[in-house]
Amino acid sequence: MPSVPRISRCAARLAACITYDFVLITYRMQITRSGFANLRAAPPTEEMDPMHDETRVSGQQDRSAGLTARLANVLAGGMGSGGRYEHRDLVIAKGKGAHVEDANGKRYIDYMLAFGPLILGHAPRVLSEAVAQSLETGIMFGAACESELLLAEEVVSSFPCVDKVRFTNSGTEAVQSALRLARAYTGRDKILKFEGHFHGWADNIFISVKPVAHMGLASHPKAVLMTPGQPKSVIDDIVIATWNDFPGIEQIMSRHGSEIAAIILEPCPTNNGFLEVAPGFLEKLRALASAYGSVLIFDEVVSGFRMALGGGQELYATVPDLCTFGKAFAGGLPIAGFGGRDDIMSLLVDNAVSHLGTYNSGALSCAGALAVLRELKRDDQAVLKHIHRLGKELIGGFNQVFQETGAPLCAAGPGAVVSVYGSPTVPKTYRDVLSHNKELLARIHRALLHRGVWSFARGTFMISAAHDEDDIQETIQMMKRVLTEDINGAGAW
Ligand SMILES: Cc1ncc(COP(=O)(O)O)c(C=O)c1O
Repeated sequence: MPSVPRISRCAARLAACITYDFVLITYRMQITRSGFANLRAAPPTEEMDPMHDETRVSGQQDRSAGLTARLANVLAGGMGSGGRYEHRDLVIAKGKGAHVEDANGKRYIDYMLAFGPLILGHAPRVLSEAVAQSLETGIMFGAACESELLLAEEVVSSFPCVDKVRFTNSGTEAVQSALRLARAYTGRDKILKFEGHFHGWADNIFISVKPVAHMGLASHPKAVLMTPGQPKSVIDDIVIATWNDFPGIEQIMSRHGSEIAAIILEPCPTNNGFLEVAPGFLEKLRALASAYGSVLIFDEVVSGFRMALGGGQELYATVPDLCTFGKAFAGGLPIAGFGGRDDIMSLLVDNAVSHLGTYNSGALSCAGALAVLRELKRDDQAVLKHIHRLGKELIGGFNQVFQETGAPLCAAGPGAVVSVYGSPTVPKTYRDVLSHNKELLARIHRALLHRGVWSFARGTFMISAAHDEDDIQETIQMMKRVLTEDINGAGAW
């Protein structure tokens, strides 16, 4: 006869399974019936609508509103990328340095930096000059050029893991190429990725980036598709793990290790707020990947040339087998890349493994990226030092404001990226972030935007070489005014 505690344990486990399956089924139904964007909830009323802006200028002066309406007539969803949803009514006329101006002539301090690439700010002279020169001498040739060579040499000397490199046009493509190489190298199909990490929008890896609930046990999360239109079969080749949970990953690898072609991760994850890696975690993963013969890939699309020149692998002194990079690498031009150990990259020799692309290594993009990298390396990396110093100042200022106002928020991050979390404690995993007050973060984002400070809706602030002390102090003051004047006190949180 089973004991009473055992029966109640079984009942609790059964209840947990039923609840989990219910969440999963409901989530899947939401995805298949209504499309990804509609997962956000019912259409907002005017008061709830985060886009509703009472400060908006009226009548003919509101050029932005007119352009937004026209965009909605011709551009699907009125925007060029789903990532722009939270600021879909913003039409930018021009940018210079750390500031942009919208179509109404309103100025913003820009901490979006076009989702990260603008490490030197808007229209930096070194980049404009390099691009102007390339416009005179030819923008692409479909063949090698000297700027490609010089750029490749700079990348090889920047990343500890890179013996050889190839260029792509986006981070998404760079990740796809690295995954293909890992599969070719190992003869295996499965990829281990972390819940909450983002590696581009391609079907086979846009998985478990932002699950809406706890999907499976933390020690063995379930893989979840992120958009209607992804074939269900892609799930079969993905194994999901929890960031910073090494015992969980050891267990997963003991079950699946011989099938895992690659372990891919963001060494400095920022796509759900900055989730700092636990001390020793990357070193242990490095050893585990080697023990099972899996390729370790660091996705440095955000961290490369921003957190440190050599990204997370330099910062945490752990050398992966392959890495991907993009964004800050080219200061806003459409070029990214992947690189790594010679024996893996050599699979590309004589097209044994395919890597193709009409626009790869275009002369204009290579010349621009080269100018950016030289600027970042100049004067003992003065630009990155400046960025980190300002970022730390912003974090300190924000935390003081949160303390003074009693707002249940905190700020942290490596400096070059600043995260404001919807909780007084810094999260360690994606599941910690799930329970944060996202509504409060969204209201702050919107209120800051009204006051001329443009950050990511998720609470992220990216710093560039063009930001200065005045921008940082103004931003801290605006955060204080938002919390004390726009969002009225404890009742609001
Ligand atoms: C870590 C990471 N990897 C890959 C990508 C995809 O890069 P892209 O948008 O250039 O395709 C992103 C984009 O935000 C990213 O943050």
